[in-house]
Amino acid sequence: MKRTIKKAIFPAAGLGTRFLPATKASPKEMMPIVDKPLIQYAVEEAISCGIEEFVVITGKNKRAIEDHFDSAFELEEKLRNSGKKKLLDEINKLSHINFAYIRQRVALGLGHAILCAQPFVKDEPFAVILSDDVVDPGCVLLKDMIKVYEELKCPVIALEEVPTSEVSRYGVIDGVMDGGIYRIKDLIEKPRPEEAPSNLAIIGRYILTPDIFDILEKQQPGAGGEIQLTDALRELLNRRVIYGYLIKGTRYDAGDKLGYLKATVDFALKNDELADDFRKYLLDRVKQTA
Ligand code: UTP
Repeated sequence: MKRTIKKAIFPAAGLGTRFLPATKASPKEMMPIVDKPLIQYAVEEAISCGIEEFVVITGKNKRAIEDHFDSAFELEEKLRNSGKKKLLDEINKLSHINFAYIRQRVALGLGHAILCAQPFVKDEPFAVILSDDVVDPGCVLLKDMIKVYEELKCPVIALEEVPTSEVSRYGVIDGVMDGGIYRIKDLIEKPRPEEAPSNLAIIGRYILTPDIFDILEKQQPGAGGEIQLTDALRELLNRRVIYGYLIKGTRYDAGDKLGYLKATVDFALKNDELADDFRKYLLDRVKQTA
């Protein structure tokens, strides 16, 4: 097994029902935070961690993702001819990256989306990044998880403490702290608050090992009738140790309307071109509506 993580999977075939009607005909992953689509933040995060190979799991109505990472000859010519070098550099920033696309024919769940990537991953450990879980560009969550993997050679999943009233939206773990990380004892997908073993929720960053594929192949649908990654990880626990890594920093659930708005406001307040005017606008609005 290779020592480090060079491949990442970006599942993007979900139906995005929490964001309808916006996601009826266009991908949730292409929704922008300020001026950049969610999936580009995710890809840039992977690049910053040394990832070299990228596969996006796509589905119906997701063509815009492929177009976004493709060249745009006419637009590039126009920007070049009008001397807009900064914009030209910006749209060509990821032109050196080769993407693979695998189509998930039916949105059968995150576990199934990951199984679709098996021919690309083969027998290597790999990262999974859910682009609707946005972290600050400076956040080193995935980098830290890769370090844990390199040291312990075990799957590592990202965790966040959430209010107990929200646990039913997540996979939740039972675990014990062991040297700054959690050694996972059990995982439950979308538990009722009274059944949840903790308020440690699984968020959208995973370092997985290829033995998950054997399990996913046989996995029956779970919560919501979907093939759940959490259920497969629970099965994997019978065979090997899995660790949980608690995020240090902010994560936004941009697949949810409120989370998306929070990410937009926070990212705009950190944007050099917008921050001053936007802060003034927000302060005025808050005074008017208070
Ligand atoms: P979500 O739970 O956010 O589901 O999936 P969703 O369908 O995208 O959105 P809602 O809940 O209906 O609003 C988490 C991630 O897994 C991908 C999604 O694209 C998202 O990145 N996914 C989910 C797939 O690729 N395939 C699936 O069958 C389900």
